[in-house]
Amino acid sequence: MKTIFTPSRKVIVLIILFFGSVYLISTNSHPFLSCKSDTPVSKKDSVVSWKVPELSSIPDNDEGKMIKLGRDIFIETYKYIGPDVPDASKRFTGSNMDCQNCHFKAGTQKNVLGLIGSYSEYPKFDPRSGKIINIQERINSCLTRSMNGKAMPENSKEMEALAFYLKWLSAYVPKGAKVEGNGLQKIELLNIAADTSKGRIVYLNNCTTCHSENGSGALNKPANAEVAADSLSGYDYPPVYGKGSYNDGAGLYRLLTSTSFIYNKMPLNDAQLTIEQAYDVSAYINSQPRPQKSDLSRDYPDVKNKPIDFPFPPFNDNFSESQHRYGPYQQMLKEGEKSIMVKPE
Ligand code: HEC
Ligand code: HEC
Repeated sequence: MKTIFTPSRKVIVLIILFFGSVYLISTNSHPFLSCKSDTPVSKKDSVVSWKVPELSSIPDNDEGKMIKLGRDIFIETYKYIGPDVPDASKRFTGSNMDCQNCHFKAGTQKNVLGLIGSYSEYPKFDPRSGKIINIQERINSCLTRSMNGKAMPENSKEMEALAFYLKWLSAYVPKGAKVEGNGLQKIELLNIAADTSKGRIVYLNNCTTCHSENGSGALNKPANAEVAADSLSGYDYPPVYGKGSYNDGAGLYRLLTSTSFIYNKMPLNDAQLTIEQAYDVSAYINSQPRPQKSDLSRDYPDVKNKPIDFPFPPFNDNFSESQHRYGPYQQMLKEGEKSIMVKPE
């Protein structure tokens, strides 16, 4: 696959346009409104600033209904596609977490896995699977990894609604443009390995009030829930390890991804950890038991594309598995690189 992408940007653009149109044609025969990619095309490499559309701009028509449904699913995922919903055919997430437990404020918060601009980048080459993927396939990778569940059919109403919502989030973003604040922030790399025993202390001092001492978080179960439907519940505080948490194939399982996330946002409303504390506590929570995804050695089929903090072999270098897992990372970088971009791939 890699060689196809080396010749020129034009070739890449043509491939993207081709797959984009195949995707559009294939999504045209739905029983309900299907989400089409018709955002304006930008000048190449343009960067636009963070702009969240007003809720009042959601149109009062069928498309607007899908956008609203998508937003609701994003905010209260467990109610629609969670592991305890009454209709067994709608159980897709393996955890009662919500998309916005990680993509804060329904994906509208800058630098904390913010999703403004993400829709406009798809379809795009995904190094993890080694192929070009559309937005639905990307959503499915959060379902199967970050939410430890199973893939949702691309033509299901819930998937279409999520795609419509993400499209609406990018309403101001020209196709192909990058958005400042999308994804996660760059963090400085420390020239030391992360220390899980120091991380445990950071965890006990800063995280247990919300995420609990065993990492399981806290459900928002109503106290008087008597019948099964009433007991459907999401999390007030999502689990950071243990069986309700993301699996080891998730983005947050990578040390630098979770360090950036935690450094920027945790403890919630009082993010005051140093990078070193965030690094150590990330290593600690990721060293605790959690669901496991099979076949992780097949991720990044072109090993050259494997991020340095993806801890599953084979590797394209002689650094140990432990160093890929815990650092230090500086010596793994190419010359001249001081910090690392943890923008989603
Ligand atoms: C446990 C945290 C977590 C949860 C829950 C989660 N995600 Fe993600 N998501 C991530 C991380 C981390 C990334 C990017 C990094 C990576 O995967 O390597 C990401 C990336 C994405 C992207 C790609 C963004 C881009 O710019 O390419 C989309 C789209 C997305 N998520 C949608 C969703 C949706 C929809 C849900 C709910 C069904 C969801 N996510 C649930 C953590 C999460
Ligand atoms: C004041 C409560 C609070 C504290 C203290 C706190 N968190 Fe969180 N954390 C939250 C909430 C709430 C969310 C989900 C945000 C949302 O849904 O809007 C979250 C989300 C997360 C997530 C992503 C979702 C998941 O469960 O994987 C991680 C990782 C995380 N916190 C780690 C930490 C770590 C590490 C600490 C300690 C350094 C910490 N948090 C301290 C409230 C807190």
